[in-house]
Formats: sequence, C-alpha cells, structure tokens
Amino acid sequence: MEDQQLTIAMPKGRIFEEALGLLRKAGYRLPPEFEESRKLIIEVPEENMRFILAKPMDVATYVEYGVADIGIAGKDVLLEEERDVYELLDLQISECYLAVAGIPNTDLQQIAPKIATKYPKVASSYFREQGEQVEMIKLNGSIELAPLIGLADRIVDIVSTGRTLKENGLIEYEKIVDITSRLIVNPASYRMKDDVIEPMVARLSKVVQHGKQEEARS
Ligand code: PRP
Repeated sequence: MEDQQLTIAMPKGRIFEEALGLLRKAGYRLPPEFEESRKLIIEVPEENMRFILAKPMDVATYVEYGVADIGIAGKDVLLEEERDVYELLDLQISECYLAVAGIPNTDLQQIAPKIATKYPKVASSYFREQGEQVEMIKLNGSIELAPLIGLADRIVDIVSTGRTLKENGLIEYEKIVDITSRLIVNPASYRMKDDVIEPMVARLSKVVQHGKQEEARS
C-alpha cells in the first residue's frame, strides 16, 4: 500500500524556524526555500507531506476540523482554545511562560481591575482560582501597550526573554504556567494514519531526547 499523505499545520512566526529545525533533525528533507516562501500551502512530495502555514492561535483549529492531520502548537494555544485534539509530544521548543505583568508598585484595585490579554480563558480561570473578580479585555497583540496607556491594570501575556516587559518599563507580578510547543493530532487521523504518524512521533521524540541530553552535558 502506498504511504498516506500527511497534512501538517505549522505556526507562522517565532516557533516556525525552530519547528522546521526539529523536523529536519528528525531526517525530513524539507526544501531550503521553505523559510523564504510566502506560500501558505507547501507540498513536499518527496516526504509525502503537505504543510499549511497558519497563525499560531489557529493551528489547533485546523487540526480539530481534520483539514490538517498534525500540527505544532504552543501549550498557550492549547490551554486557551481547548480544541478536540490529542497532544502527542512535548517538543520542548519555544520555551516561554504566561505571566501577570503591569506597571511597578501598583496595587491591584479592589473593584473589577481590568486585565488585557490574548488569553481570556486562561486569564479568567487563573483570577477565578485566586478569588479575584476581574474584567477581561481581549486584545490581539502588543498587549504591553494596555497598562502603559491606561486601558488595563494588568496584562496576562507570554514572557520569553523578558525584553518587551523591560523595555516598556513593566514588571512581572506572577508566573501562571510554563509553555512549550507540542505535537498535536486529529483523533480520526491518529486512528487512520497511525502507520505514518507513529514513526514520525518516534523520530521526533528521539531528537527531543537527544537535545535534552546535549543540554544536560553543556
Ligand atoms: C510575544 C508576547 C510578548 C513578547 C514576549 O509577542 O506577546 O509581547 O512576545 O517576548 P520577550 O519576553 O522575548 O520580549 P509577539 O512578538 O508574539 O507579538 P504580539 O505582540 O503580536 O503578541
């Protein structure tokens, strides 16, 4: 039987290159022009693969609906979107965390402080657990602007190097959760294409393990 084709949803942006690097280390021959292309669908016939390039927040949506079999998505997206997908592997790339941040030395006001975020579900459940009633303001990016111009008292956002907070005079108040990128799969694809998905998971997991050992040695 001929191998089944896999459609893989990749997140455009900062995870993209690391994810490509991982796939290449796992032995997948992906053309070098991959990074430069503006195409949103890239066929790789020699590997029987098709890649779709999506906004990071949408990767799990493509996988849930089955238009992509597999995807690479940040844990932040998986927590926020709660899509019906299986998480197969922690790829341990694009490490960062979600945190509450704001202007230094400002107390959170008692009555419904405003929280600006791209992650309203994660943020709401965090503040609910803390017993705080807050008003959520959903933004789509440049979240750090919100406290600076008086739109919000705090933000809940990704911190990676911490530079964006620092350069905008903000500080971190609490860490919420560590984030890495995950390999996710559509449940039906997992059943029907396990003969190609399982070997892929095995190859990637070897690379991840190897990376960890290297890290431990250095
Ligand atoms: C993310 C995040 C922070 C920044 C953190 O934004 O929302 O703004 O990166 O990274 P740092 O700690 O290394 O400075 P992104 O660049 O993805 O763009 P966005 O503003 O559109 O969310």
